[in-house]
Amino acid sequence: MALLFLSTPARAPVWRQILSDAGETMIDGEGAVTDPALVTEIACWTPPEDLGRYPNLRVVISVGAGVDHLPPMPPGVALSRTLAPGIEAMVRDWVVMATLMLHRDMPVYLDQARSRLWRTHPVRAASARRVGILGMGRIGGLVAGSLTALGFDVAGLSRSGAGADMDSVPVFGMDQRDAFLARSDLLVCLLPLTGETEGILDASLFAALPKGAGLIHAGRGKHLNMPDLQAALTSGQLSAAVLDVTEPEPLPPGHWLWHDPRVIITPHIAAQTDAAEGARHALAVIRAMRQGLPVPGLVNQDKGY
Ligand code: GLV
Repeated sequence: MALLFLSTPARAPVWRQILSDAGETMIDGEGAVTDPALVTEIACWTPPEDLGRYPNLRVVISVGAGVDHLPPMPPGVALSRTLAPGIEAMVRDWVVMATLMLHRDMPVYLDQARSRLWRTHPVRAASARRVGILGMGRIGGLVAGSLTALGFDVAGLSRSGAGADMDSVPVFGMDQRDAFLARSDLLVCLLPLTGETEGILDASLFAALPKGAGLIHAGRGKHLNMPDLQAALTSGQLSAAVLDVTEPEPLPPGHWLWHDPRVIITPHIAAQTDAAEGARHALAVIRAMRQGLPVPGLVNQDKGY
C-alpha cells in the first residue's frame, strides 16, 4: 500500500517525512512506480493520465480545496478535497483584502495615481456597505464572520442552508436569490464549480445587483461570463471587480481584463496549500479509509463538491 504523490517538488520532502513518520509509504511521481498495484492513494492537483492503471486505487486526494479540475473517478474510487484551516484562512484574507479594496475605491485611486491625480471621493462607513456572499460553506462562513467583525452589513446565499446558524448573518435560500442580490453592493463568489454553477456570474445576475455594485471572485474562471462582465462594466451596472480566477489561466497578456482600470487581477493565489497541512490531511484520509471511518473532505461526486 502506498500513496502516489503528484504535487510540486518543494512539497515532496515534507510529505515524505510526515508519511514515513506515520509508517506510510510515499512514491514520488509516476516515474517511480515499479508496480501500479501498490498504489492505493493518489495525491495530486494534476491527475495521472490514466487512473485505470492503478487497480487497487481507493482514493484520489486533491491537494487543493477544489476538485473541478479532476476527471470522473473510476467506479469505487473515493475523492477527497484538502480540508485545511490554512487554505480557508488564506482565502478569507484575500476576500477581506478585495472587499476593502472595493469598499475604499482602490481601483479608482490606483488609476488616479497612474496619472498623478490627487482627487478625493466620498468615504462610506463599512456599515453602509452591504456584502453578499455566494456560497456559505466553510470558507463563506469564515469570510462572513470577518467581514461582520469589520462592520460590513453581510448576508449569504446558500442552497443547502449552510451558515444558517450564524447569529449575525442572514442566510437567504435559493428562492430568495433576487432579494439577496438586490442587497449586495459587493458580491463575493466562493462557489464550487459544478454543472449548475458554471456561467452563473452572467448578465441576469449582474442586472439583479444594485447599480454600480462590485464583484469579488475567488471561485473559478468558468463561473464568470466574460462578455457579460465587460458589458456590465461598460454600462456601469458593475463599477469594479477583483478577480483571483479567470478563464483561461494564465490570462493572456493581451486580454482586455488586464487593461481595464476597474478590474484588479491576482493570479489564482487566494490560497496555496501548505505542504505539512496537505500531508496531514492525506494521512487522515488514509487512516479513515483503513478504519472505515468518515473520510475527511469526502466529495459527493454526484454534486461535484
Ligand atoms: C485552489 O483554487 C484550490 O482549489 O485549492
